Amino acid sequence: MIERIELTKRFDKIDPLSIKNYLDFGGYEVFKKALKMKQEDILNEIALSRITGRGGAGFPVSIKMKSFAKESGFKYVVCNADEGEPGNFKDRYLMEKDPHQIIEGILISAFSTGASKCFIYIRGEYAKAIGIMKNAIKQAYKTNHLGMNILGSNFSFEIEIRRGAGAYVCGEEFALIESIEGKPGRTRVKPPFPTQVGVFDKPTLINNVETFCNLPFILRIGGTEYSKIGNEYASGTKLISLTGNVKNKGLYEVPYGRTIREVIEVLGGGVNDNKKISMVQLGGACGAIIPESLLDMDIDNEKFNIFDSKMGAGAIIVMDESFDMFDIILKNMEFFQHETCGKCMPCREGHIQVLNLIKKFVRYSANEKDYLSLESLAQVIHETALCGLGQTSMTSIISTMKFFKEDYQQRIKESLFKEEYYG
Ligand SMILES: Cc1cc2nc3c(=O)[nH]c(=O)nc-3n(C[C@H](O)[C@H](O)[C@H](O)COP(=O)(O)O)c2cc1C
Repeated sequence: MIERIELTKRFDKIDPLSIKNYLDFGGYEVFKKALKMKQEDILNEIALSRITGRGGAGFPVSIKMKSFAKESGFKYVVCNADEGEPGNFKDRYLMEKDPHQIIEGILISAFSTGASKCFIYIRGEYAKAIGIMKNAIKQAYKTNHLGMNILGSNFSFEIEIRRGAGAYVCGEEFALIESIEGKPGRTRVKPPFPTQVGVFDKPTLINNVETFCNLPFILRIGGTEYSKIGNEYASGTKLISLTGNVKNKGLYEVPYGRTIREVIEVLGGGVNDNKKISMVQLGGACGAIIPESLLDMDIDNEKFNIFDSKMGAGAIIVMDESFDMFDIILKNMEFFQHETCGKCMPCREGHIQVLNLIKKFVRYSANEKDYLSLESLAQVIHETALCGLGQTSMTSIISTMKFFKEDYQQRIKESLFKEEYYG
């Protein structure tokens, strides 16, 4: 079930394989308007909108665009469609259901910053989305929405698709750049930032699929109007991938400011079989696990900082009482241990040790010392890993130690009991 506001309003109403359908629905009109605007006016509208990136980190879009616009020479735009975060499927829907909206957003971004070429980096598993995007790009070239002197203007622009090979870390911007260049996906030390030195050492602007989709919307209604959607912390709408033990799983588009409880109960229809929610993981495997009592928190990045976490790309994974928290954490840690690129020591070695400690909790053989080791190791990895993978992979542990401390203590007591009675 999909709640339609703006980014999803054409879903199932247009044929994603037809550019004509998109044009009939007013598609590319905003880009045409942008072609007649001054580049700095477009950037100012985007600044007024207060939009933040939708790929996970929530960085202000206009700051990155303005700094990129200042760079000279050949410049790249990259659309990050890797979407490797477990529980997220919004970018897949955007690509499969309304591909030209993404291209229009990329064109606005490129025109306003002086870029010449875009790579859309799509995870290899998204075969259908890749096919639809390829078709859309072909149609856009045919109708001169891409190519030389677009729609009679001085602006020329190319788009090429690059397929990822299924590594989660390749969604991280530096690993993604390496992957586009044909190297193994490993992060780089920063600075320099991609806006200065990116793909093939050229300045590169990287944004998420959903972020690009917001640009036509911002220019259509104006930055100030856009900034009124949401609340004081975050503007616009957010696509939420809702899964787990909830009746109506699916993609929802909600204005920032709605609470997590509203999404789960009103849009998602509540928990299956009238069971109780025991915990909710926000953002994906890299996100916080919070108890039911915190569900009245807003969906915005600013307030999430209180919990040392972010909404990430927008997944909400609901778990009822039948789940064992330690099993969930174990699955998360197995995922990260498999996906670490191995470049930095805290991430490469740390995940192996954390996994061993979590296994002790799962197997009822943990003691107080294991708890303390887990606590300090998680903090060390979080603070010292080279890229966002290791910096965020410990969030499920850090958050559960904060909100479910008694569960850890209980497990230690039960482990002692097991040891005393069963050896
Ligand atoms: C391990 C890891 C995986 C990531 N995966 C993605 C991804 O699949 N898609 C995405 O847009 N951003 C992903 N990011 C965030 C990107 O590094 C980058 O911040 C984002 O593409 C910037 O776009 P935005 O400002 O529009 O959000 C990931 C970050 C990390 C650390």
